[in-house]
Amino acid sequence: MRAVVESLEESRIREVANEGLGRSDVLKFWFGESDEVTPDFIREAAIASLQHGETFYAHNLGLPELRHAIAGYMHGLHPQVHTDAWFDRVAVTSGGVNGLMVAVQALVDAGDEVVLVTPVWPNLVAQPRILGAQVRTVPLVADASGAWRLDMDALLSAITPGTRMLIVNAPNNPTGWTLTREEQATILAHCRGTGTWVLADEVYERLYYAGDTANGAAPSFLDMAEPDDRLIVTHSFSKSFLMTGWRLGWLVLPPSPSSTPRARQCLYSAGPRWQCSARMRSHLRWWPT
Ligand SMILES: Cc1ncc(COP(=O)(O)O)c(C=O)c1O
Repeated sequence: MRAVVESLEESRIREVANEGLGRSDVLKFWFGESDEVTPDFIREAAIASLQHGETFYAHNLGLPELRHAIAGYMHGLHPQVHTDAWFDRVAVTSGGVNGLMVAVQALVDAGDEVVLVTPVWPNLVAQPRILGAQVRTVPLVADASGAWRLDMDALLSAITPGTRMLIVNAPNNPTGWTLTREEQATILAHCRGTGTWVLADEVYERLYYAGDTANGAAPSFLDMAEPDDRLIVTHSFSKSFLMTGWRLGWLVLPPSPSSTPRARQCLYSAGPRWQCSARMRSHLRWWPT
């Protein structure tokens, strides 16, 4: 085993989960997971797909029908980006974890500097470390009322021209902290200046209840990004579609992804075909409504 992998810290939340899994007297607050099963209309679509024999390899970037459906869904949430542009920007992945790792693998070399806002779901810290990156963390701070706040000055001074990537997860697991639009704009402008990639983990975009946005979703970097921004956004079916056990997600890439066709073939492998099937895509709609 590589030393860096050996040295990764055990996830504390996994430890808690392992103790509680299978116990009926414990409420499961450990993972970012619903206590309800995947809705019927999704399960039925998957069953129909399997029965239809959709058991073969899918396209590297995901079935075109599913990518079109995701493009339409994303356009509904972020209408300033034209639907046609979305299609080329969407790559289906085997879950959010896989999408994040693909993004980090594509962009971060051993020795590169990666800045992260913490506390955060541990995989986000582990992934660049596994690749040998130097990880710098910028902690959120609690204000007088106990709410988590970003120390913008600390973050901006941590991101220099030597910073390859900023990884930020908002809405945040585990704190619930969310970036404001103004903060996103400030970060994006700063990263344009330093040439830093922003990897935004927005898998909890739909689990946002402040009611201060027109689309009901959390503020997104996509709402203000320019086409040539160095921005990758990660999404997952796990959270808003109650599909945690399915491992299906997608990345939103810059319009002209820098990856070569060969890189696409090696790095991306969309989830099982039945999960991505044409039947399911017809069910990709606003959820919950
Ligand atoms: C912040 C964050 N990003 C990504 C994921 C992973 O999503 P997926 O289930 O699609 O791998 C999780 C799962 O808990 C998460 O909390």
